[in-house]
Parts: sequence; C-alpha cells; structure tokens
Amino acid sequence: MIISQISLSYNFYIIIIIIIIIISYNHIIIMASSTIAALKISAAKPPKSSFSGHLKTLNFPKLPLPHHALPPFNLHYRSSCSIASSGIKAQVATIGQPIVESTKNVDGPVVIVTGASRGIGKAVALALGKAGCKVLVNYARSSKEAEEVCKEIEASGGQALTFGGDVSKEADVESMIKTAVDAWGTVDILINNAGITRDGLLMRMKSSQWRDVIDLNLTGVFLCTQAAAKLMMKKRKGRIINIASVVGLTGNIGQANYSAAKAGVIGFTKSVAREYASRNINVNAIAPGFIASDMTAKLGGDMEQKILQNIPLGRYGQPEEVAGLVEFLALNPAAGYITGQVLTIDGGMVM
Ligand SMILES: NC(=O)c1ccc[n+]([C@@H]2O[C@H](COP(=O)([O-])OP(=O)(O)OC[C@H]3O[C@@H](n4cnc5c(N)ncnc54)[C@H](OP(=O)(O)O)[C@@H]3O)[C@@H](O)[C@H]2O)c1
Repeated sequence: MIISQISLSYNFYIIIIIIIIIISYNHIIIMASSTIAALKISAAKPPKSSFSGHLKTLNFPKLPLPHHALPPFNLHYRSSCSIASSGIKAQVATIGQPIVESTKNVDGPVVIVTGASRGIGKAVALALGKAGCKVLVNYARSSKEAEEVCKEIEASGGQALTFGGDVSKEADVESMIKTAVDAWGTVDILINNAGITRDGLLMRMKSSQWRDVIDLNLTGVFLCTQAAAKLMMKKRKGRIINIASVVGLTGNIGQANYSAAKAGVIGFTKSVAREYASRNINVNAIAPGFIASDMTAKLGGDMEQKILQNIPLGRYGQPEEVAGLVEFLALNPAAGYITGQVLTIDGGMVM
C-alpha cells in the first residue's frame, strides 16, 4: 500500500516535470523564431519606391533644388555672436535658413567689398553692414576713411574690419581672403567694386594707362572672384556682384581702356555665372551710369552739363541707390533666381 502510494506520487511528479519541459520548449521556439524574423527584416534592403522607379524608366534628369527653395541669405540677420563663440560650422549652417526663421539670433553672411573706403564701395559696405553682414572693408590708400566706414558699421551693431591691399595683385588678394577667413571662417558674398579711370584719347593713351585700368578693373575682378569662389564652391552657396559700367555696354570717347575693362567684366560675369550656377553661386554685374563720387567729381562743370542732357532723369545717381541694388542682389531671397545679368542703374541713359 505504502509502496503503491510512493510510486503514484512519483509518477505525478514525473508528469508535472514533463509538462514544464514542454511549455518551456514551446516558449523558446516562439522567441527564437521571432528573433530570426526580426533579424531578417532589418537585414532586408528597403524597397525601391515606385516614384524613383518611374523617374528611372522615364529617364528624367535629376533636378537640383530651385534656388528660391533655400534663400541664401537673410536680409534681417543681425550678428550678435563674437567670432570666438561662433564656430565655422555653426555659421555655415545658419546662413541658409529660410526667411521664416529670421527671428533666430544667428550670424550674418560674410562680405568682402573691394574699394570700400569711398564712393559706391563705401555706400555698399555701409548698407550691407547695417543689414547684418560682417564686412571686410578693402582700400588701397585711404586707411582713415576705411576705418571710419568700419566704425559706422560697428555703431549700427554690425561687425567690420579693414584690409589695405591692391586687389590687382594676387598676393594681396590671397591675404585679403585669408583675413576674412581667419576672422569669420568664410566668405559668402563678394562685391568687386574697386576701380579707377585713366582717361585719354586712344591716340595719346600710354600703355601704362591701359595696363593700370585693365590690371585693377578687370584682372582684379578675376583674382578676387577666383579666390572667393573656391570657398563658396565648397559650401555650394554664394553671391558675386561685379560693378561694371554703362560704358562697358556703349563705349565712350576717351575711355577705351576703361570701357574695354568694363565690357570684359560683363563677359566675365556671364561666363562665371554659367560655370558656377550648379554650385548655387549667383554672379551678376551692375552697370551704373553717372554716380556722384570722387570719380565723377573730376569731370568739371561743362562736361557735367553735357552729361546731364543725356540722362532722362536729369541728375547723377547717388552711391546709396547703387548700394540698394547691390543689397537686393546680395541678400534678398527673390534675387536667388537672378544670375548672369547686367543691371543698369543710370537714370535711363541706356535703354
Ligand atoms: N562713379 C561713377 O559714376 C561710376 C559709374 C560707373 C561705374 N563705376 C564703377 O564703380 C566702382 C566704384 O567707383 P567710385 O566712383 O565709387 O570710385 P571712387 O570714389 O574713386 O573709389 C574707388 C575705390 O576703389 C579703391 N581702390 C583704388 N585702387 C585700388 C586698388 N588697387 N585696390 C583696391 N582698392 C582700390 C579706392 O581706395 P582708396 O580710397 O584707398 O584709393 C576707393 O575705395 C568702380 O569700379 C567704377 O568703375 C563708377
């Protein structure tokens, strides 16, 4: 009796153990199979979307983002960060934000304005500085005037520095670009403005008169553009504005050298605009007519009267008017779809 009771309870325990083993085994099998399934899913390649397949079969060209989709620079940026606190990467990343995010306190674009101590260049530097850009104010000799331009920009809350150098010299251009990069990490916008006149009728024009004007007004534009475009290309973003002249379109007695240089700038602008369009770098030229500056002040009263007769608006333009057009091309998102153009600002002289 006792023996049969023992064997009964022994059998009972055996059955319980077998049931436990069977349940655990099933559990392990279920866990293992779900793990294998999960591994299979993660290892599988994502399926090709029907849209990309459609593009492939129809052989559509890959379209780049339209420029207006990413406005390059925001007109209302105000720089409040010190150079030390704003890393290069952070600066580059913030420049391309759409205009709707303009309330963010981000760095402004870095601009080089050549020949910015006086006249049109000064007005351009002030306008861009006041719009929130960091401005390198280049000059050849007028260091005091350039310092004044910087002070005015800083007084309006912007950042600026001066750089004395001859932009017809490659070494000077290299160190000008380096100065901007050392200070602010990059160059976003280049305004090729520096220019001179050495007027004279062709039959009396010395080769030095020809060379001086071509070297600065044309070769200088080439040197600065090539150096700045290297930086812009890497970021796939930039704007270059070349100050040409209406005489580059029409020619002018006594200005064979100057009009050849300015016509050269116009051809250069169009070629470079084509070369760099795929890199999102817009290149345009502005062709001013007669603008009140030291350059036109030398013309004299009689000459001025004759000139005014040929200007439908009956007056010289002001440097600030040219600066307004530069500011639009340099900063306004709407200018993102303008490249390779020559915009005249001349009171209607050329139409
Ligand atoms: N004024 C006009 O009616 C008119 C019309 C059409 C086109 N533009 C063009 O607009 C631009 C500016 O003319 P603007 O009338 O304002 O001239 P501006 O008053 O004579 O000023 C010329 C600027 O260029 C600088 N500069 C001269 N040589 C230089 C060099 N080798 N390297 C770097 N900078 C140099 C000068 O610096 P420093 O002060 O140190 O000498 C100055 O800041 C020029 O390209 C000009 O051809 C002017």
